[in-house]
Amino acid sequence: MAAIHQPTLDMLAATVAASVGAMPHLGSGDKNLVDQAAVDAMRASLRGADFGGVVVIGEGEKDNAPMLYNGELIGGGQPLEWDIAVDPIDGTALAASNEPGAVSVMAAAERGKMLETSEVFYMKKIVTGAVGAGVVDIDKSATENILALAAELDMAPTDLRVAVIDKARNADLIAEIESTGATWVRFAEGDVAMAVAAALPNSGIDMLLGVGGAPEGVVTACALRCLGGFMQARFAPQTVDEIERAMMADYDLEKKLELLDLVAGDKISFVLSGVTEGMFTPGIVKDDESDELIVQSLVLDQSSSAPSFVEVRVEQI
Ligand code: FBP
Repeated sequence: MAAIHQPTLDMLAATVAASVGAMPHLGSGDKNLVDQAAVDAMRASLRGADFGGVVVIGEGEKDNAPMLYNGELIGGGQPLEWDIAVDPIDGTALAASNEPGAVSVMAAAERGKMLETSEVFYMKKIVTGAVGAGVVDIDKSATENILALAAELDMAPTDLRVAVIDKARNADLIAEIESTGATWVRFAEGDVAMAVAAALPNSGIDMLLGVGGAPEGVVTACALRCLGGFMQARFAPQTVDEIERAMMADYDLEKKLELLDLVAGDKISFVLSGVTEGMFTPGIVKDDESDELIVQSLVLDQSSSAPSFVEVRVEQI
């Protein structure tokens, strides 16, 4: 097996730090406080990083979140060889109310290989396991995609489970999914973990559809490149202002974005660490015997074929 890419271990440490940083504020009801604590901890952890990178997908202007801003340099003066995506907490509202589904995420790709999305906050997405390639398509209706995927998986369409983030903009899509008899898997926030679940076997999710965050789309694509899943996307600006900004920046709003348009290159890694109880990682817990905090992470690295689940124990200070 090839050695894992340089940023992977630093990203593991940084997402674990973010989860630990957020922990005192879980259930506080203050989403900005949770995010700020996670950002500060992630940023502090990355100060010691052993690679040089540039934040390409940073903390969001959308939520006026505190920044690990686009263009921020990572590392201690090493050559800038990596594009970095950060989402210190995906699902800040969930973390603030201590509900399941909040995670801390980072991804890395070779410099210049991640799609820049800062002018448009939203993106339409379709995600499945590798089985979806040549079977489903973002330009087909939900009904067509459900029937095609079910046939390919040798399942009844009514047994298919389709995750869509529960937002008003996806209401017609959700109604269409339910009219096919497939199960709509509802979630309120956090579409990175749900999309990764759609690409992992036996996760309980067969497909993710709908309009979610654009930065989260690129982060998801990094995971999908490592896992060998299927994904397509298209920018989906929701306001006139977003459309104008996209046009000024020369975005192609019509383009069907394939996985390689979202993130190209051959060196990609992705780390997701649990904050609250999740699909495939439990939330951060305290081991009462040792007084340590335990964080579970999913680590994906294109140089190794299988996903790794890692447990990190952190001494409480
Ligand atoms: P934050 O935790 O950064 O707020 O993102 C949560 C999230 O649910 C993402 O997973 C999703 O892609 C995006 O927000 C959707 O945006 P919005 O909440 O504005 O519909």
